[in-house]
Amino acid sequence: MKAVGIIGLGKYLPKRILTNQDLEKTVDTSDEWIVTRTGIRQRRLAATKEATSDMAIRAAIGALKDAKIKTEAVELIITATTTPDMQFPSTACIIQSALGARRAACFDVSAACAGFVYALVIAQQFVSRGVYRNALVIGAEKLSSIVDWQDRNTCVLFGDGAGAALVAPVKRGGIISTYLGSDGSGGDLLLLPGGGSRHPATHQTIDKRLHYVKMQGNELFKLAVKIMADAAHKALKQAGLSCKDVDCFIPHQANLRIILAAAKRLGLDTKKIYMNIEKYGNMSSASTIIALCEAVKCGRIKKGDIVVLDVFGAGLVWGACVIKW
Ligand code: ACO
Repeated sequence: MKAVGIIGLGKYLPKRILTNQDLEKTVDTSDEWIVTRTGIRQRRLAATKEATSDMAIRAAIGALKDAKIKTEAVELIITATTTPDMQFPSTACIIQSALGARRAACFDVSAACAGFVYALVIAQQFVSRGVYRNALVIGAEKLSSIVDWQDRNTCVLFGDGAGAALVAPVKRGGIISTYLGSDGSGGDLLLLPGGGSRHPATHQTIDKRLHYVKMQGNELFKLAVKIMADAAHKALKQAGLSCKDVDCFIPHQANLRIILAAAKRLGLDTKKIYMNIEKYGNMSSASTIIALCEAVKCGRIKKGDIVVLDVFGAGLVWGACVIKW
Protein backbone atom coordinates (compact mmCIF):
# COMPACT_ATOMS: atom_id res chain seq x y z
CA MET A 1 0.00 0.00 0.00
CA LYS A 2 1.35 3.39 -1.01
CA ALA A 3 1.23 6.47 1.23
CA VAL A 4 -1.24 8.88 -0.32
CA GLY A 5 -1.61 12.62 0.15
CA ILE A 6 -2.91 15.83 -1.39
CA ILE A 7 -0.43 17.32 -3.87
CA GLY A 8 -2.51 20.16 -5.30
CA LEU A 9 -5.41 22.36 -4.22
CA GLY A 10 -7.81 24.72 -5.97
CA LYS A 11 -10.96 26.64 -5.15
CA TYR A 12 -13.58 28.80 -6.78
CA LEU A 13 -16.03 31.19 -5.17
CA PRO A 14 -18.66 32.91 -7.29
CA LYS A 15 -18.42 36.70 -7.40
CA ARG A 16 -21.83 37.69 -6.04
CA ILE A 17 -21.90 38.37 -2.30
CA LEU A 18 -25.16 38.16 -0.36
CA THR A 19 -24.86 39.83 3.04
CA ASN A 20 -27.03 39.40 6.11
CA GLN A 21 -28.25 42.94 5.47
CA ASP A 22 -29.42 41.86 2.02
CA LEU A 23 -31.38 39.01 3.63
CA GLU A 24 -32.99 41.42 6.11
CA LYS A 25 -34.78 42.89 3.09
CA THR A 26 -36.33 39.58 1.94
CA VAL A 27 -37.09 37.54 5.10
CA ASP A 28 -37.92 38.32 8.74
CA THR A 29 -34.37 38.11 10.09
CA SER A 30 -31.55 40.35 11.32
CA ASP A 31 -27.81 40.53 10.94
CA GLU A 32 -27.57 40.31 14.73
CA TRP A 33 -29.60 37.04 14.87
CA ILE A 34 -27.63 35.41 12.06
CA VAL A 35 -24.21 36.41 13.41
CA THR A 36 -24.89 35.40 17.02
CA ARG A 37 -26.66 32.13 16.16
CA THR A 38 -24.42 31.00 13.29
CA GLY A 39 -21.29 33.15 12.88
CA ILE A 40 -22.22 33.86 9.24
CA ARG A 41 -21.96 37.44 7.88
CA GLN A 42 -22.18 36.81 4.15
CA ARG A 43 -22.22 34.05 1.57
CA ARG A 44 -21.43 33.73 -2.16
CA LEU A 45 -24.09 33.01 -4.76
CA ALA A 46 -23.49 31.50 -8.18
CA ALA A 47 -24.84 33.35 -11.21
CA THR A 48 -28.13 32.07 -12.62
CA LYS A 49 -26.38 30.43 -15.58
CA GLU A 50 -23.51 29.06 -13.44
CA ALA A 51 -24.04 25.37 -12.55
CA THR A 52 -22.18 23.27 -10.00
CA SER A 53 -19.88 21.83 -12.68
CA ASP A 54 -18.90 25.33 -13.88
CA MET A 55 -17.59 26.15 -10.40
CA ALA A 56 -16.02 22.69 -10.01
CA ILE A 57 -14.12 23.03 -13.30
CA ARG A 58 -12.53 26.30 -12.13
CA ALA A 59 -11.48 24.70 -8.83
CA ALA A 60 -10.20 21.57 -10.62
CA ILE A 61 -8.05 23.61 -13.02
CA GLY A 62 -6.53 25.34 -9.98
CA ALA A 63 -5.75 22.03 -8.26
CA LEU A 64 -4.18 20.53 -11.40
CA LYS A 65 -2.02 23.62 -11.92
CA ASP A 66 -0.97 23.54 -8.27
CA ALA A 67 -0.05 19.84 -8.57
CA LYS A 68 1.64 20.42 -11.95
CA ILE A 69 -0.39 17.58 -13.46
CA LYS A 70 -1.74 17.73 -17.02
CA THR A 71 -5.46 17.07 -17.42
CA GLU A 72 -4.75 14.10 -19.75
CA ALA A 73 -2.89 12.42 -16.88
CA VAL A 74 -5.90 12.43 -14.51
CA GLU A 75 -7.06 8.83 -13.90
CA LEU A 76 -10.06 9.27 -11.58
CA ILE A 77 -12.51 12.12 -10.92
CA ILE A 78 -14.80 11.95 -7.90
CA THR A 79 -17.23 14.79 -7.33
CA ALA A 80 -18.93 15.14 -3.97
CA THR A 81 -22.12 17.14 -4.41
CA THR A 82 -25.73 17.36 -3.26
CA THR A 83 -26.50 19.79 -6.07
CA PRO A 84 -25.42 17.97 -9.25
CA ASP A 85 -26.03 19.76 -12.56
CA MET A 86 -28.75 17.17 -13.22
CA GLN A 87 -29.83 13.65 -12.13
CA PHE A 88 -27.56 12.18 -14.78
CA PRO A 89 -24.99 12.22 -16.31
CA SER A 90 -22.88 12.60 -13.20
CA THR A 91 -21.33 15.98 -12.54
CA ALA A 92 -17.93 14.23 -12.55
CA CYS A 93 -18.53 13.19 -16.20
CA ILE A 94 -19.49 16.75 -17.14
CA ILE A 95 -16.29 18.00 -15.50
CA GLN A 96 -14.22 15.32 -17.28
CA SER A 97 -15.53 16.40 -20.65
CA ALA A 98 -14.86 20.09 -20.00
CA LEU A 99 -11.35 19.38 -18.74
CA GLY A 100 -10.52 16.94 -21.55
CA ALA A 101 -9.44 14.34 -18.98
CA ARG A 102 -10.26 11.47 -21.35
CA ARG A 103 -8.44 8.74 -19.39
CA ALA A 104 -10.33 9.35 -16.14
CA ALA A 105 -13.02 7.13 -14.62
CA CYS A 106 -15.72 9.39 -13.16
CA PHE A 107 -18.48 9.26 -10.59
CA ASP A 108 -20.29 11.39 -8.00
CA VAL A 109 -20.57 10.79 -4.29
CA SER A 110 -23.71 11.72 -2.35
CA ALA A 111 -22.74 12.28 1.27
CA ALA A 112 -24.03 15.83 1.77
CA CYS A 113 -21.73 17.98 3.93
CA ALA A 114 -19.48 14.99 4.62
CA GLY A 115 -19.06 14.45 0.87
CA PHE A 116 -15.53 15.73 0.46
CA VAL A 117 -14.13 13.48 3.20
CA TYR A 118 -16.09 10.49 1.83
CA ALA A 119 -14.70 11.16 -1.66
CA LEU A 120 -11.18 11.64 -0.30
CA VAL A 121 -11.31 8.30 1.51
CA ILE A 122 -12.57 6.55 -1.65
CA ALA A 123 -9.77 8.14 -3.69
CA GLN A 124 -7.22 7.06 -1.10
CA GLN A 125 -8.37 3.43 -1.47
CA PHE A 126 -7.88 3.46 -5.24
CA VAL A 127 -4.57 5.33 -5.25
CA SER A 128 -2.94 3.54 -2.31
CA ARG A 129 -3.60 0.17 -3.99
CA GLY A 130 -2.17 1.38 -7.29
CA VAL A 131 -5.48 1.02 -9.19
CA TYR A 132 -5.10 4.64 -10.29
CA ARG A 133 -2.00 6.82 -10.17
CA ASN A 134 -3.97 9.88 -9.12
CA ALA A 135 -7.46 11.14 -8.38
CA LEU A 136 -9.09 14.53 -8.68
CA VAL A 137 -11.40 14.92 -5.68
CA ILE A 138 -13.91 17.76 -5.88
CA GLY A 139 -16.46 19.20 -3.47
CA ALA A 140 -18.85 21.54 -5.30
CA GLU A 141 -22.26 22.98 -4.51
CA LYS A 142 -24.82 25.39 -5.84
CA LEU A 143 -26.93 25.28 -2.69
CA SER A 144 -28.67 28.50 -3.71
CA SER A 145 -30.57 26.34 -6.24
CA ILE A 146 -32.18 24.17 -3.52
CA VAL A 147 -32.61 26.69 -0.72
CA ASP A 148 -36.11 28.02 -0.02
CA TRP A 149 -35.52 31.76 -0.11
CA GLN A 150 -38.81 32.27 1.77
CA ASP A 151 -37.69 30.10 4.74
CA ARG A 152 -35.63 32.11 7.23
CA ASN A 153 -34.73 28.91 9.12
CA THR A 154 -32.56 27.73 6.24
CA CYS A 155 -31.91 30.46 3.67
CA VAL A 156 -29.52 32.37 5.94
CA LEU A 157 -27.22 29.35 6.34
CA PHE A 158 -26.04 28.28 2.91
CA GLY A 159 -23.74 29.46 0.12
CA ASP A 160 -22.18 28.32 -3.17
CA GLY A 161 -18.62 27.35 -4.06
CA ALA A 162 -16.22 24.61 -5.14
CA GLY A 163 -12.88 23.18 -4.07
CA ALA A 164 -10.64 20.50 -5.52
CA ALA A 165 -7.71 18.35 -4.41
CA LEU A 166 -5.32 16.24 -6.47
CA VAL A 167 -4.64 13.01 -4.59
CA ALA A 168 -1.50 11.01 -5.40
CA PRO A 169 1.23 8.88 -3.79
CA VAL A 170 3.58 10.88 -1.56
CA LYS A 171 7.09 10.14 -0.24
CA ARG A 172 6.49 11.71 3.18
CA GLY A 173 3.37 12.29 5.27
CA GLY A 174 -0.05 11.99 3.63
CA ILE A 175 -3.32 10.60 4.94
CA ILE A 176 -2.58 8.86 8.23
CA SER A 177 -6.03 7.76 9.36
CA THR A 178 -9.65 7.99 8.30
CA TYR A 179 -12.99 7.30 9.92
CA LEU A 180 -16.47 7.30 8.33
CA GLY A 181 -19.87 6.75 9.91
CA SER A 182 -23.58 6.95 9.06
CA ASP A 183 -27.00 6.75 10.72
CA GLY A 184 -29.80 6.62 8.18
CA SER A 185 -32.43 6.79 10.94
CA GLY A 186 -31.65 10.53 11.20
CA GLY A 187 -32.46 11.16 7.54
CA ASP A 188 -35.64 13.12 8.29
CA LEU A 189 -33.69 15.85 10.07
CA LEU A 190 -32.29 17.29 6.85
CA LEU A 191 -33.59 16.38 3.43
CA LEU A 192 -34.77 17.48 0.01
CA PRO A 193 -37.86 15.33 -0.52
CA GLY A 194 -38.93 16.33 -4.06
CA GLY A 195 -37.65 15.33 -7.49
CA GLY A 196 -36.51 11.77 -6.72
CA SER A 197 -38.34 8.48 -7.27
CA ARG A 198 -40.32 8.91 -4.01
CA HIS A 199 -41.83 12.24 -5.07
CA PRO A 200 -41.14 12.80 -8.78
CA ALA A 201 -41.63 16.39 -9.88
CA THR A 202 -45.29 17.33 -10.36
CA HIS A 203 -47.22 20.57 -10.03
CA GLN A 204 -48.20 19.35 -6.56
CA THR A 205 -44.62 18.80 -5.38
CA ILE A 206 -43.74 22.26 -6.63
CA ASP A 207 -46.74 23.81 -4.84
CA LYS A 208 -45.71 22.04 -1.63
CA ARG A 209 -42.16 23.38 -2.04
CA LEU A 210 -40.77 19.84 -1.81
CA HIS A 211 -37.81 20.76 -4.03
CA TYR A 212 -36.23 22.79 -1.28
CA VAL A 213 -34.14 21.89 1.78
CA LYS A 214 -36.15 20.93 4.88
CA MET A 215 -34.27 21.02 8.16
CA GLN A 216 -34.78 20.46 11.88
CA GLY A 217 -31.89 22.66 12.93
CA ASN A 218 -32.14 22.21 16.68
CA GLU A 219 -31.89 18.41 16.63
CA LEU A 220 -29.08 18.52 14.10
CA PHE A 221 -27.18 21.00 16.21
CA LYS A 222 -27.03 18.67 19.22
CA LEU A 223 -26.10 15.63 17.15
CA ALA A 224 -23.47 17.50 15.15
CA VAL A 225 -21.60 18.57 18.30
CA LYS A 226 -21.44 15.02 19.70
CA ILE A 227 -20.75 13.28 16.43
CA MET A 228 -18.05 15.67 15.20
CA ALA A 229 -16.18 15.46 18.49
CA ASP A 230 -16.43 11.67 18.44
CA ALA A 231 -15.34 11.34 14.79
CA ALA A 232 -12.25 13.50 15.29
CA HIS A 233 -11.40 11.62 18.47
CA LYS A 234 -11.65 8.24 16.70
CA ALA A 235 -9.51 9.32 13.73
CA LEU A 236 -6.86 10.82 16.01
CA LYS A 237 -6.80 7.71 18.21
CA GLN A 238 -6.38 5.51 15.15
CA ALA A 239 -3.42 7.67 14.12
CA GLY A 240 -1.90 7.31 17.60
CA LEU A 241 -2.30 11.06 18.15
CA SER A 242 -4.18 13.37 20.49
CA CYS A 243 -5.60 16.90 20.22
CA LYS A 244 -2.28 18.27 21.44
CA ASP A 245 -0.60 17.00 18.26
CA VAL A 246 -3.05 18.81 15.97
CA ASP A 247 -1.71 21.91 14.17
CA CYS A 248 -4.80 22.76 12.14
CA PHE A 249 -8.35 21.55 12.68
CA ILE A 250 -10.73 22.03 9.76
CA PRO A 251 -14.33 21.27 10.71
CA HIS A 252 -17.37 21.37 8.46
CA GLN A 253 -18.44 25.01 8.47
CA ALA A 254 -22.15 24.73 9.35
CA ASN A 255 -22.37 26.87 12.46
CA LEU A 256 -19.74 28.64 14.57
CA ARG A 257 -21.45 27.47 17.77
CA ILE A 258 -21.37 23.82 16.63
CA ILE A 259 -17.66 24.14 15.82
CA LEU A 260 -16.79 25.73 19.19
CA ALA A 261 -18.92 23.26 21.17
CA ALA A 262 -17.39 20.27 19.34
CA ALA A 263 -13.87 21.65 19.97
CA LYS A 264 -14.67 22.09 23.68
CA ARG A 265 -15.96 18.51 23.91
CA LEU A 266 -12.82 17.32 22.17
CA GLY A 267 -10.54 19.38 24.43
CA LEU A 268 -9.07 21.18 21.42
CA ASP A 269 -7.46 24.61 21.66
CA THR A 270 -9.73 26.86 19.57
CA LYS A 271 -6.64 28.67 18.15
CA LYS A 272 -6.03 25.52 16.10
CA ILE A 273 -9.34 25.79 14.25
CA TYR A 274 -9.46 27.21 10.73
CA MET A 275 -12.77 28.84 9.93
CA ASN A 276 -14.23 30.71 6.96
CA ILE A 277 -17.93 30.39 7.83
CA GLU A 278 -18.14 34.17 8.35
CA LYS A 279 -17.39 34.79 4.65
CA TYR A 280 -19.11 31.87 2.95
CA GLY A 281 -21.71 30.19 5.22
CA ASN A 282 -22.28 26.46 4.85
CA MET A 283 -21.27 25.23 1.38
CA SER A 284 -21.90 21.55 2.21
CA SER A 285 -19.33 19.33 0.46
CA ALA A 286 -17.38 22.39 -0.74
CA SER A 287 -16.83 23.84 2.75
CA THR A 288 -13.99 21.65 4.05
CA ILE A 289 -11.98 21.58 0.84
CA ILE A 290 -12.23 25.34 0.35
CA ALA A 291 -11.14 25.86 3.97
CA LEU A 292 -8.23 23.44 3.49
CA CYS A 293 -7.18 25.21 0.30
CA GLU A 294 -7.28 28.62 2.01
CA ALA A 295 -5.44 27.39 5.11
CA VAL A 296 -2.60 26.01 2.97
CA LYS A 297 -2.39 29.04 0.65
CA CYS A 298 -2.27 31.56 3.51
CA GLY A 299 0.49 29.61 5.29
CA ARG A 300 -1.70 28.51 8.18
CA ILE A 301 -0.77 24.91 7.29
CA LYS A 302 2.94 24.18 6.79
CA LYS A 303 4.93 21.14 5.75
CA GLY A 304 4.92 18.50 8.48
CA ASP A 305 1.78 19.87 10.19
CA ILE A 306 -0.93 17.53 11.47
CA VAL A 307 -4.25 18.49 9.88
CA VAL A 308 -7.65 17.10 10.88
CA LEU A 309 -10.73 17.31 8.62
CA ASP A 310 -13.94 16.70 10.56
CA VAL A 311 -17.36 16.61 8.86
CA PHE A 312 -21.04 15.98 9.50
CA GLY A 313 -24.05 16.12 7.22
CA ALA A 314 -27.46 14.99 6.00
CA GLY A 315 -27.93 11.25 5.93
CA LEU A 316 -26.85 11.37 8.64
CA VAL A 317 -23.22 10.90 7.64
CA TRP A 318 -19.96 11.94 9.20
CA GLY A 319 -16.23 11.40 8.97
CA ALA A 320 -12.79 12.56 9.96
CA CYS A 321 -9.40 12.32 8.42
CA VAL A 322 -5.91 12.96 9.81
CA ILE A 323 -3.32 14.17 7.31
CA LYS A 324 0.38 14.86 7.83
CA TRP A 325 1.06 17.74 5.48
N1 ACO B 1 -33.82 34.99 11.83
C1 ACO B 1 -34.50 35.25 12.93
N2 ACO B 1 -35.08 34.31 13.69
C2 ACO B 1 -34.95 33.03 13.27
C3 ACO B 1 -34.25 32.68 12.11
C4 ACO B 1 -33.67 33.73 11.36
N3 ACO B 1 -32.98 33.50 10.24
N4 ACO B 1 -34.29 31.35 11.96
C5 ACO B 1 -34.98 30.87 12.99
N5 ACO B 1 -35.39 31.87 13.78
C6 ACO B 1 -36.18 31.82 15.00
C7 ACO B 1 -37.00 30.56 15.10
O1 ACO B 1 -38.21 30.70 14.37
C8 ACO B 1 -37.24 30.47 16.57
O2 ACO B 1 -38.28 31.35 16.93
P1 ACO B 1 -39.39 30.88 17.99
O3 ACO B 1 -38.63 30.63 19.26
O4 ACO B 1 -40.29 32.05 18.04
O5 ACO B 1 -39.98 29.63 17.41
C9 ACO B 1 -35.94 31.03 17.17
O6 ACO B 1 -35.31 31.76 16.12
C10 ACO B 1 -34.99 29.98 17.66
O7 ACO B 1 -34.91 28.98 16.70
P2 ACO B 1 -33.97 27.73 16.89
O8 ACO B 1 -34.13 26.82 15.72
O9 ACO B 1 -34.14 27.15 18.26
O10 ACO B 1 -32.54 28.46 16.85
P3 ACO B 1 -31.15 27.81 17.06
O11 ACO B 1 -30.44 28.53 18.12
O12 ACO B 1 -31.21 26.32 17.13
O13 ACO B 1 -30.43 28.18 15.68
C11 ACO B 1 -29.85 27.13 13.65
C12 ACO B 1 -30.96 27.72 14.47
C13 ACO B 1 -28.87 28.23 13.33
C14 ACO B 1 -30.43 26.57 12.37
C15 ACO B 1 -29.15 26.03 14.45
O14 ACO B 1 -30.09 25.14 15.01
C16 ACO B 1 -28.18 25.22 13.61
O15 ACO B 1 -27.21 25.72 13.12
N6 ACO B 1 -28.44 23.92 13.48
C17 ACO B 1 -27.61 23.03 12.74
C18 ACO B 1 -27.92 23.22 11.32
C19 ACO B 1 -26.90 22.55 10.51
O16 ACO B 1 -25.78 22.43 10.92
N7 ACO B 1 -27.34 22.11 9.37
C20 ACO B 1 -26.52 21.55 8.46
C21 ACO B 1 -25.67 20.42 9.02
S1 ACO B 1 -25.53 19.21 7.93
C22 ACO B 1 -25.21 19.95 6.52
O17 ACO B 1 -24.52 20.94 6.55
C23 ACO B 1 -25.79 19.41 5.26
